[in-house]
Order: sequence, then C-alpha cells, then structure tokens
Amino acid sequence: MNSTIVEAVKEAFQEHFGQEPVLFNSPGRINLIGEHTDYNAGFVLPASVGQGIYFAVSPSGSDTGCSLVSLDFDERYDFDLSELKPLSQNSWQNYILGVVAEIQKAGKRVQGFNMVFSGDVPRGSGMSSSAALECGTCYALNTIFSLGFERVDMVKMSQLAEHNYAGVKCGIMDQFASMMGKADQVLLLDCQSLDYQYYPLQLEDYSLLLCNSNVSHNLASSEYNVRREQCESGVAVLQTKYPEIAFLRDASLEQLEEVKGDMDEVVYRRCKYVIEENERVISFTQALSNGDLTGAGNLLKVAQEGMRYEYEVTCPEIDFMADFANSRTDVLGARMMGGGFGGCTLNLIKKGSEDQFVEELSEAYQQKFNMQMTPIQVQLEDGSRKL
Ligand code: GLA
Repeated sequence: MNSTIVEAVKEAFQEHFGQEPVLFNSPGRINLIGEHTDYNAGFVLPASVGQGIYFAVSPSGSDTGCSLVSLDFDERYDFDLSELKPLSQNSWQNYILGVVAEIQKAGKRVQGFNMVFSGDVPRGSGMSSSAALECGTCYALNTIFSLGFERVDMVKMSQLAEHNYAGVKCGIMDQFASMMGKADQVLLLDCQSLDYQYYPLQLEDYSLLLCNSNVSHNLASSEYNVRREQCESGVAVLQTKYPEIAFLRDASLEQLEEVKGDMDEVVYRRCKYVIEENERVISFTQALSNGDLTGAGNLLKVAQEGMRYEYEVTCPEIDFMADFANSRTDVLGARMMGGGFGGCTLNLIKKGSEDQFVEELSEAYQQKFNMQMTPIQVQLEDGSRKL
C-alpha cells in the first residue's frame, strides 16, 4: 500500500469538501499469459498488484450533485446525476461516469457523492489503470450507498462502463483481476463460464520484472476494436462449417485449417494466434504447477512471437526489449503484456540478475530509441477493498 498517496487523497478530500472520507483501493494487474483471449471467451492468467488507485469518497449530502477530483490530472469536475453522458474520448471522467451510469441501469440508486483519487499505476503501461479506476469507483459507491452488488456484478458493470463510456470493447480480464485478485496468487479465469481458480505464484529462483517501454500509441483503442472484429469475422467463417462455434475459444486449429481457404489471410492469422494463445494459458498453468519454469518461460517467448507476427499488436520498441531479454540466459522468457502497441514487457528473470539486466537493457534501449525504459517491480496484492 502506498501510504503517501493514501494521505494525499485524504487531505485533499478534507480541503475540498471539509468532510471525513471513506478510503478505498483498487489495484492494477499483470497478466502472465493469455492476451486477447478474454473477448474470445478463452482463458487468462492475471493477478492484482501493489500498484493501484486510491479513493477518498463520501456522500455529498445533495441528491444529485457530485464532485470528482483527480490529483494526478490536477482537475476538478462537478456534475449532476440526472444529466450523465460521456465526455470526449480519453477523458478520465468517463471511467467514473460510465460506472455510475451502469449502476443506474441496473436499477440501483446512487445519491450525490464527492470523490478524490490518485494512483501509482503507470498510465499506458498495460497494467490497467482504467480498470482500477472503474472497479474502485464501483466498489466505493457500492459500499457507501449499500447497493448490495456482488463482486462479480461489479466486474461486469465496470467492463460495460469501459465499452459504453470509454469506447473500448474490452474483455473482462482487467476488471476481473482488479476486483477479484488475491495477495500472492494468480487467477486462472475461464472467460466463458467465469469460473476461476487461484494458484500461488511460486517462482523459486526467478522473479517477475516489468519493463515499461514508455510508449503508448494512440491507435491502441482503435486497433483493439479492429482485432475484436477480425476475431468475430473468423468465427463467422468457422460457423459455415461448424455452427456450434460461438467464439474462437470453441474452435480447434484443425477446424481453422479446414476453412482457411475461405478466410481472409489476416483474419486467419488472428484466429490462429488466439486459438494457440488459449492453449498456452493452460500449458503455462500446468508448467507453473509442476515447477517447470523453463517450460513456462518458453511459452512466454512463443506468445511474444505470436503477438508480433500473427496478431500484430506489438511495436518496434517492445519487440526490441523482448528480443533483448529473450537472447539472454538469465531470462527464461519475456513477452509484451496487455492490449498492445506499447506498455511493458513481462520478464521471467533469475533472482539477483535484475540490476545488471536493467542497466544493460536501459542503455541499449536509450541508444536505439533515445528513450528511457522504466523497470517496475511487482508484488501480488488483494483486489478492490476498503482501507
Ligand atoms: C486490454 C483489455 C483486456 C484484454 C487485454 C489483452 O487490457 O482491457 O480485456 O483484452 O487488453 O489481453
């Protein structure tokens, strides 16, 4: 927990509103493997982390008057609950307004509230600061207004907030991880049934290190929606022969090969990646359970290649960082993490090698792109909670 930020939101709340707030936290997430499988109803293996967003919240006393203060954007926004609508794209307010709108759609009544928030999830790093904002808002409002939602309801409403207010047709992974994560555990989630299981993350002599490329491309959200459409058009072709296939998760590589001739070449590569990535999640989980870290690392390498050449969601900076890591003996495997076009690489690295690795990669990255790479250490912490 970042007590400096907790103090900051609490103090700012008192200054702005002269009230005592209730404090909440909702974390960012990592994902060990399973990118772009969630909206294909497949498997993912995320975990909630120590970096998160902290909220100070309280009823405003008014029926419909609300105020939001973002310390990180240094902005205050006042609005009325009776006039909810999305602001322009990329506005931070949308994640909060979207959640309020979903709560209202679900037939529950929120009253006026005040909120101050701030966080330490690097934006655009692929660690889901937006899911942390949505889930934290939902959890806080559920608590202060005793709305009675279960955690899974709040996961779904937070995901819909992102669809309807932020305009990204995301899957359910990020919100699920932020809301349902547990300290020291990874979460194997079946995005079709929403069945899930926790696994302790035991990496023995190895550790996880994130390297932030500090690149976040604007096309991330538009290309994300394009990938989703490509998967849907792949399913439509598969359905001509196999009507029972509702999502790529239901299809095998053999079935895909059978309809390859009827499919656009790009769509074929997208589908191939998703079907293989989905299998990798299961293999990776087995490897972890068996203590086969070399096997797990190899799956990260193959996943990186798939995202680079078949799903085409990486970028030169990320490819460089992953190649650099994957050519070393002290790294068992590295791949891009998250939706793509920037963000972080996830590295499974020998304990004790981190400093040297960071030094060498930083220098090489600086030379090649004239940019800074930022290492991020992660600890797995609990999901959304009241402090
Ligand atoms: C983003 C989305 C998730 C998921 C990942 C890619 O983080 O919000 O739903 O699709 O990209 O795995």
